[in-house]
Amino acid sequence: MAKPPLSMTPSGWFQVAWSDEIGIGDVHRMTYFGREMVAWRAQSGLLTVMDAYCEHLGAHLGYGGRVEGEVIQCPFHGWQWNHEGRNVCIPYQDRPNRGRRIRTYPVVERNESVYIWHDIEGRQPYFDVPDVFASFDDGTSAADYYPQARLYRPQLELHPQYVLENGVDFAHFKFVHQTPIVPVFTRHDFDEPVSYVDFTITFEGDDGQSIDDVTSGVEAINGGLGVAVTKSWGMVDNRTISAITPVDEHTSDVRFMVYIGRTPGNDSPKAEARAQQFAQDVIDQFLADVNIWQHQRYSDRPALAAAENEGFTAIRKWATQFYPPATASSV
Ligand code: FES
Ligand SMILES: [Fe+2]
Repeated sequence: MAKPPLSMTPSGWFQVAWSDEIGIGDVHRMTYFGREMVAWRAQSGLLTVMDAYCEHLGAHLGYGGRVEGEVIQCPFHGWQWNHEGRNVCIPYQDRPNRGRRIRTYPVVERNESVYIWHDIEGRQPYFDVPDVFASFDDGTSAADYYPQARLYRPQLELHPQYVLENGVDFAHFKFVHQTPIVPVFTRHDFDEPVSYVDFTITFEGDDGQSIDDVTSGVEAINGGLGVAVTKSWGMVDNRTISAITPVDEHTSDVRFMVYIGRTPGNDSPKAEARAQQFAQDVIDQFLADVNIWQHQRYSDRPALAAAENEGFTAIRKWATQFYPPATASSV
């Protein structure tokens, strides 16, 4: 891939793991935004994400670091660091080094996922991660759905913005997703860091139908560039979460999750098998997009059709707020 002319260090919330990958006492290694990090879970359940290197002599806490109650202990000389990244114990000295601190990241666990707040300017979170149920304010919860189905594709050569642009790209649905007719957008709300896109869409019928007769659609909530949640209506009841997190200057980890709605009163194995198939179908639709994105070259002076202008201009303008000032790009 040509390196995108878009910063790979945008601000916002980004998924770095699934919650169930990091049990109590676990130390989990990862690389995001070009930095080595560890996530560790204390006895109390509290999860910490911090830079991986010990501030004493630089050991990597992900190789032999141990959770001791509410702190992580370095494998090299046993210094202990707390949830805020502060040194709380030097085993061979009567007081800790109160000044030294390992960089930590604000963490939220939601949607069965671990999100960190990343901001190279060091600002605190100024918006919230959307919740795949609560953010739609319709009284649903995970209990109304089958377990989360997941897709994980590490280190693909794509940028988070490609995935978001999909949400205004009405013309790709017929070609990539084989919809019989072109969907129609009914909401583009890019006023805030959390943006909203709704569209009417169908996967049924033939190309002779009118969009006015379609009674199904999708509502999407984008929490910055890193996390988007969707809710379907009028079709198989599903919720999705897409989460794209830059790993380095060229690649991102792609995670995608699907929940299929339960039919009240029908918990049969057959219904569950059918739900699994539906979830796979939704994942396959997402993979059809991934196939394009991972080979795409970002076009920062795109040759847009007249009808594409408004949506792409709006989303690209909205996206600039998440980039460090010097690297912002627009249509
Ligand atoms: S390098 Fe971590 S305690 Fe010395
Ligand atoms: Fe798509």
